[in-house]
Amino acid sequence: MEVESVLVTGANRGIGLEFVRQLVKLPRPPKYIFATYRDRNTIEALKQLRDESKDTIILLIKMDARNADQIESARLVIEDMVGDKGLNLLINNAGVLKREAFPEITEENMLLHFTTNTVAPVMVFKAMFPLLQKAATQAPTGVNVSKAAVLNISSAGGSIESQSSEFHKQRLDSISYKTSKAALNMAMKVISLTIKEQDILVVNMCPGWVKTDMGSEAADLEISESVSAMMSTLSRLNERHHGTFMDRNGETIPY
Ligand SMILES: NC(=O)c1ccc[n+]([C@@H]2O[C@H](COP(=O)([O-])OP(=O)(O)OC[C@H]3O[C@@H](n4cnc5c(N)ncnc54)[C@H](OP(=O)(O)O)[C@@H]3O)[C@@H](O)[C@H]2O)c1
Repeated sequence: MEVESVLVTGANRGIGLEFVRQLVKLPRPPKYIFATYRDRNTIEALKQLRDESKDTIILLIKMDARNADQIESARLVIEDMVGDKGLNLLINNAGVLKREAFPEITEENMLLHFTTNTVAPVMVFKAMFPLLQKAATQAPTGVNVSKAAVLNISSAGGSIESQSSEFHKQRLDSISYKTSKAALNMAMKVISLTIKEQDILVVNMCPGWVKTDMGSEAADLEISESVSAMMSTLSRLNERHHGTFMDRNGETIPY
């Protein structure tokens, strides 16, 4: 994997932060990583990565993914840095999980998940699309992550077909989250078909159950384990994977 520029949303903690950490350690690290955060008081770890980074310029960008003006400001900053080379990789990682079961479930809870986990990644993709298109025209024909790609961090919780498993039956209080990730998968499926001929790889990936604030200490996987598996899978993806939904190891997850 040799990406020159990467945008990671929700990069101040959890899986997003670990992506930044592992990207700078690649044998051929990116020239630019655009790492977004919402709150200045939460970026100590990111700042440390930025200050210690030798080969990569890590740019910290304040961006709530639900805020159109902030997305546009981020796009301008990124465009200014990458120029005609465009943006190689967008990692739509930012997400939220606040459990509420039926029938206590509120409209507010459902909308929070839909705007954050479904609408926001689509809007970020839409804003970055011209930059991804630029990157896609730089290299010879072909589809791979080093050229132009969007990785959507989805969840097996959004797989309708998997819901009858014991694991998912124990998480029925995540109705809003599951719904929003199923909708994310559908949105990205439709986009992948819409832009099929443009050499921009679009993939939905589940990181597994990971020990982050969202996943809790009870989770199966260390953050580093999940992200290194996803990075390794990413580097192997090609046109056959466009518009698919997979786990961190590249195994298909049914929609
Ligand atoms: N952990 C798991 O087991 C697991 C399993 C399946 C899928 N996932 C997915 O993996 C992704 C990362 O999750 P995580 O486990 O790393 O969760 P996390 O530790 O809770 O981190 C979530 C990140 O998303 C950011 N975020 C939330 N709302 C945002 C918004 N409106 N705009 C911009 N950033 C926002 C947070 O920023 P703040 O710090 O400002 O809140 C934080 O950086 C999510 O999409 C999640 O659904 C996680």
